[in-house]
Amino acid sequence: MQTLRYGIVGGGFVAQFHCRALAQVRGIEVVGFVSKDPLDKLLAFARELGLGEPRAFPSIREMVPHVDVVAIFAPNFARVEVVEELVEAVKAGAKLRGVICEKPFARNVAEGRRILELIRQISVPTAYFENQIHMKCIKAVRQQLGPVMQTMGPPLLARSGEEHAGPHSGWFWDPTRQGGGVTSDMGCHCLAVGWYALTPPGKSPRFLQPQLVSADLSLLKWGQPRWRKELLDRYGVDYSRTPAEDFATGMVTYRNPDTGQLVKAQFTVSWMYDKMGLRLSLDGIGPGYAFEMNTLRSPLEVFIGDVAAAGLADTELALEKAQASRGLLAVQPNEADLYGYTDENVDAYEAFCTGRPPLLDWEYGQEITRLTMAAYLSAERRATVDLTDPKTAQELENYVPLIQQGRGGEVLHLPS
Ligand SMILES: NC(=O)c1ccc[n+]([C@@H]2O[C@H](COP(=O)([O-])OP(=O)(O)OC[C@H]3O[C@@H](n4cnc5c(N)ncnc54)[C@H](O)[C@@H]3O)[C@@H](O)[C@H]2O)c1
Repeated sequence: MQTLRYGIVGGGFVAQFHCRALAQVRGIEVVGFVSKDPLDKLLAFARELGLGEPRAFPSIREMVPHVDVVAIFAPNFARVEVVEELVEAVKAGAKLRGVICEKPFARNVAEGRRILELIRQISVPTAYFENQIHMKCIKAVRQQLGPVMQTMGPPLLARSGEEHAGPHSGWFWDPTRQGGGVTSDMGCHCLAVGWYALTPPGKSPRFLQPQLVSADLSLLKWGQPRWRKELLDRYGVDYSRTPAEDFATGMVTYRNPDTGQLVKAQFTVSWMYDKMGLRLSLDGIGPGYAFEMNTLRSPLEVFIGDVAAAGLADTELALEKAQASRGLLAVQPNEADLYGYTDENVDAYEAFCTGRPPLLDWEYGQEITRLTMAAYLSAERRATVDLTDPKTAQELENYVPLIQQGRGGEVLHLPS
């Protein structure tokens, strides 16, 4: 079995989550990390998981010659500079077998175009990490219902949701650095998984052609004075000046190019889901069949009474973005696997080792950026965006949502 040496850019939440996933994947050694924050804890964690003897590199340029694969797990605002640096390192003589980029691919279409221009200069295979498409639940749906879909026809309607109570780092809340609010952060997941859930068996993830996008964005909880103050105190982000949406819902219409059939994917994302923790949900309906997933349903529940709550080690061990430390709690013992992180790393490993394309590449990531931008445009215009209209397609090329520009006050209602 070949071993691929990983170099990870970023040493925060998602880098740690991926370490938990990589511990379940054969053939990967983590050689090092580049980060802006101290890495001691993450290095110890990765060693403890048996991922190798990783070290902290001072820069991407210095890490690239020691690795086969670079995984970009740094914040959204650093995408372009990270890709620029790794491309320079390869041009200077380093050899890479693959490059991975976490979601979202870019903050807008122009930024994504720049990233694609850069990476094409070095012809290294790319993988876009949209973990939800690799979820075992989603694979099981497609496997189980595959024969039904063949006889009855593919799904006609999918409804996907990703909701939690809000991100864990200040930069996510800042629309200018992150790219917007919850639509940029989590809409990309739901747009991708909705599209995929409707895709007929055996067809590529880009088979169905996006036609129409409509969306409604709002600031429901975090715009209220009490919660604005909390954001300001906790993260130094001022939603009275630069607000972002904490709730979004919308609809994308796709066309099956073989049959002309139109199908619909509805998405709902929120940062104001004050329940147990992260919930990923998906349901789909086809002629004569249906499926439904909800990651908050676990076969494992624990109960922690008030008297015992003080003794709890870490609530996030139970569930990502856990909101409570007592009462009846759902526990997911292997979240990295449940959410698809394990399988997306297996897919990237196999693709980079064998030369076959990964399920999702950076061009696909750019398509998701385009759909996300169409959702922002639709909400700004309060109108459905027609992606088949050449003028609209052209407009999206350089469109930057008002919220991303820090002008969210012009489109979001802020209670006084
Ligand atoms: N697939 C998912 O569900 C999922 C979940 C969380 C985050 N993400 C994505 O992963 C990325 C990172 O998110 P996170 O939650 O780990 O953020 P985080 O704030 O927890 O950590 C960011 C890390 O990147 C480092 N960093 C900042 N600027 C850097 C730069 N220029 N070069 C190298 N390192 C830099 C920071 O020091 C920190 O270690 C984001 O793009 C985010 O959207 C995906």
